[in-house]
Amino acid sequence: MTRHFLNLADAGGDAVAAMLNDAMDRKAIRTSWPKGKADADAPLADHVLAMIFEKSSTRTRVSFDMAIRQLGGTSIVMDSGSMQLGRGETVADTAKVLSRMCDAIMIRTDDHAKIEELAANATVPVINGLTDLSHPCQIVADLLTLIEHDKALPGLEVAWLGDSNNVLNSIVEAAGLMKFNVRIACPEGYDPNVDFISAAQASGARISIFRDAMEAAADADVIVADTWVSMGQAHADAKIDAMMPYQVNDVIMEQAKNNAVFLHCLPAHRGEEVMPSVIDGKQSLVWDEAENRIHAQKSILRWALEQI
Ligand code: CP
Ligand code: NVA
Repeated sequence: MTRHFLNLADAGGDAVAAMLNDAMDRKAIRTSWPKGKADADAPLADHVLAMIFEKSSTRTRVSFDMAIRQLGGTSIVMDSGSMQLGRGETVADTAKVLSRMCDAIMIRTDDHAKIEELAANATVPVINGLTDLSHPCQIVADLLTLIEHDKALPGLEVAWLGDSNNVLNSIVEAAGLMKFNVRIACPEGYDPNVDFISAAQASGARISIFRDAMEAAADADVIVADTWVSMGQAHADAKIDAMMPYQVNDVIMEQAKNNAVFLHCLPAHRGEEVMPSVIDGKQSLVWDEAENRIHAQKSILRWALEQI
């Protein structure tokens, strides 16, 4: 069966663990190499990755492009506005054509139903580069970053402050697969997706919702924030006001464990979801996290193409 990666559960906990090990091994080998140099074994030589962007991207675009290069393959990067997809060609027809021409497809889109339709009609792996529902590739990079900084995943207390969005859904999903706990602080009316929470709880993860940011942050190992206005959402003053008590600042970081770390998928909005003293401070891992997108994508690609 074609290995699509629309959510972390498509791979499962064992495969995510295998991806993390693979990513760490491959990253260690190429310390201080030029970034465009292919890995010695070039495991995806002659493979072509098609990338479709229906939303903006810096990290996902560059990291997938670098990932396929380092694996010995090449990419074709397309914005949907310059494709026939943007003029009404169906998702299904696009999937069938790209499957005949390329070895894998990565798409960033809005409605998750679109990526499901793409996958249903593709005969090559389809990888989720972010939808309104989830952002699984980001979370593989986040888990890699935590492990590298000696945060063993089982039992870890991860606090999420702010909006309930695609990134949070994938963190909650990861909690169920990798056996850590998530403490979510958000205002009333912005509660997280119940399906992801139920699935994670059924797998034994403790997922708690707080209205008080300090309570969620208390003794946490990891504090995570993301934008309060995701792509495709309107910038409403009422929402920003509701989110202000959930800003990650020095007071919040002091609530967490002394060796707690801060993650943010970026792009960040300093002065909104996070203060500069935190994101640019010594507990922040955001630059490792961003770099790790490359190493994570390589392992996701290798899993999708049945090399892991
Ligand atoms: N974190 C993330 O996905 O960044 P981009 O939107 O720049 O791809
Ligand atoms: N939640 C954000 C993540 C950006 C990488 C968004 O969807 O815009």
